[in-house]
Amino acid sequence: MNAALKDVDRLTETEAASELARLAREIGKHDKAYYDKDAPTISDAAYDALRQRNDEIEARFPGLKRLDSPSERVGAKPSNQFAEVRHAVPMLSLGNAFTDEDVSDFVERIRRFLGLGEDVPALTAEPKIDGLSANLRYEDGALVTGATRGDGRSGENVTANLMTIAGIPHTIADAPQVLEVRGEVYMSHADFAALNARQEAAGKPAYKNPRNAAAGSLRQIDPAITAQRPLRFFAYAWGELSEPLAETQFDAVRRLGALGFDINADMALCRGVEDLIAHYRMLEEKRAQLGYDIDGVVYKVDRLDLQDRLGFVSRAPRWAIAHKFSPEKATTRLNDIDIQVGRTGSLTPVAKLEPVTVGGVVVSNATLHNEDEIARKDVRIGDTVVVQRAGDVIPQIVEVVKEKRPEGSKPFEFPTTCPCPLKTPAIREVNERSGETDARRRCSGEFACPFQKVEHLKHFVGRKTFDIEGLGEKQIAAFFDAGEVRAPADIFTLKSRNEAGELVPPLAEREGWGETSAGNLFAAIDGRRSIGLARFINAMGIRHVGEETARLLATSYGSWAEFRKAAEAAHDADAAERETMLAIDGLGETVVASIAAFFSERHNAEALNALLAEVEIEDAEQASADSPVAGKTVVFTGALERFTRDEAKARAQSLGAKVAGSVSGKTDFLVAGPGAGSKLKKAAELGVAVLTEDEWLALIDA
Ligand code: IVH
Repeated sequence: MNAALKDVDRLTETEAASELARLAREIGKHDKAYYDKDAPTISDAAYDALRQRNDEIEARFPGLKRLDSPSERVGAKPSNQFAEVRHAVPMLSLGNAFTDEDVSDFVERIRRFLGLGEDVPALTAEPKIDGLSANLRYEDGALVTGATRGDGRSGENVTANLMTIAGIPHTIADAPQVLEVRGEVYMSHADFAALNARQEAAGKPAYKNPRNAAAGSLRQIDPAITAQRPLRFFAYAWGELSEPLAETQFDAVRRLGALGFDINADMALCRGVEDLIAHYRMLEEKRAQLGYDIDGVVYKVDRLDLQDRLGFVSRAPRWAIAHKFSPEKATTRLNDIDIQVGRTGSLTPVAKLEPVTVGGVVVSNATLHNEDEIARKDVRIGDTVVVQRAGDVIPQIVEVVKEKRPEGSKPFEFPTTCPCPLKTPAIREVNERSGETDARRRCSGEFACPFQKVEHLKHFVGRKTFDIEGLGEKQIAAFFDAGEVRAPADIFTLKSRNEAGELVPPLAEREGWGETSAGNLFAAIDGRRSIGLARFINAMGIRHVGEETARLLATSYGSWAEFRKAAEAAHDADAAERETMLAIDGLGETVVASIAAFFSERHNAEALNALLAEVEIEDAEQASADSPVAGKTVVFTGALERFTRDEAKARAQSLGAKVAGSVSGKTDFLVAGPGAGSKLKKAAELGVAVLTEDEWLALIDA
């Protein structure tokens, strides 16, 4: 039988290798067609199937994974057709809002961050154009470089192509010496239809949608071809500037209009959430008549000084958001409800659906969140349900089509025992402080539950933790089932046990493995015997301690020894260490209690000690050292007048400082506003440097 048609489970190692080679070639060809030529030659579903087959073969034969494996490549890699341009100011992306509530939360966050009280800052609302963004750099009024967004830090130099667009001036009178204009390159519906008609007449493939057509047209090697494509450009933002364009977003965009750029006529200045939503509804109605694709409405804080104060979180501004139009929906049958056990024992119901296409993607699983959610929506097996998918979020069940409910169906009974072979009782804990019942039912088996254990191990080797190449979820599950890996330390003794003949049959002789792949796995494991502190803390899988908290703990304690000492002492509720840990801003009672509980548990201590005999933990790196407050611990107290607590904290952290909630011997500065009380007193006792708000500002601006 042809290897290309054989079930992955039945491939021999040799067949698998040649299949991986074929898939790398095939997928590479389709990627080229999609990303470089913007002309996909197969359906999304067929493409996904190729990728999935590749992933499955790699999962079965991890050692055969190729250097050019398609699973290592995702999305728009910068092609080597064009030179790379590093953006002077990164091109950011936008956070999303899907509901009216998301919009009011966004406005509320801004108000709180800026400490505006009841005042709502003015915001602009404008269409989110579905094209591709570009940066145009003018120096002394002349267009010098035009680039695509790329990965946000650097893009492709497509100056000659952008120069063919009628809406992009080559020279500008009265422009700032350095002027970077940003906006969207797009194609109108009419131009798109005409272009496709021409493509077809010439026997060339049609473009899938206006956005692909715009991207394909802009990324032609020959600018003469781009020149024949009817591209347009709307200006809506800017990058580097030698002088400000205006004081507000609205005026700055109008200034871009005055300088000769097309700006969108549907930009409005809004006051309050209601105004924003009204503009959104208006554009939703108008959407079909606009003549070009838009996929939502972008809201931006109008005052540019407020935009500056708000700043960014990772790669999206706090001062802007994209309110997306309604997600796509589809109706299908709910075949079953699976209960999955997480590493901390929480039971998550997952809807098993009759596969259905939602917004171009085949969906067969959707989340049902928890048992209350199932009861609230009265979701039953056999029901016809409405599924929705928006952006990258996990598909969700919106509602049940009650009219189509089969006769005799019964309400879903959420299991009260863990689905693992031990069938341990699964309970809903009651929070001691709030008295509220946990939304999730959790298996009480903890150390005994094999499902939890295996999830723990999967977490341990995950991408954000030990990240061991060739040791994915499938392999972990196989080693676990064979009784060969039951705790993290066992991973590191696999090689010696294999050599001592304790693994029967030896790894290389097992299905899915060979000499090469087994050797590669052992090498990959050895390569991880040294690991950063933050990754290690995350890998331990302490409940409530995820990537972010692990990083916070790592930078706060610096070394494993310090962290462990504090964590072990934190079990004693009166210990000073517990107070110190609580003083790390961002850590609450729940997290600290969970860390303390983890370390006081005998099983955990044993597993940790066994692991520590195998691995070495590197000290945490100190944050950016070029700021005078990097690595320092700061406490803010009293009424701050120049900014809110949140803003002060965000600013300090972005400069590498740690922000604590209370003063201790480890505090470097106390920034005290009017009305400071006990903290000021304590700082004086401990000899901690006390700064006024202005002195602090002078220090960080230095
Ligand atoms: S503002 C810092 N305004 O959306 C904010 N973006 O998800 C920068 N986009 O890459 C973007 N229309 O390609 C902005 N009116 C608009 C937009 C818009 C479309 C695109 C843009 C950006 C993406 C962000």
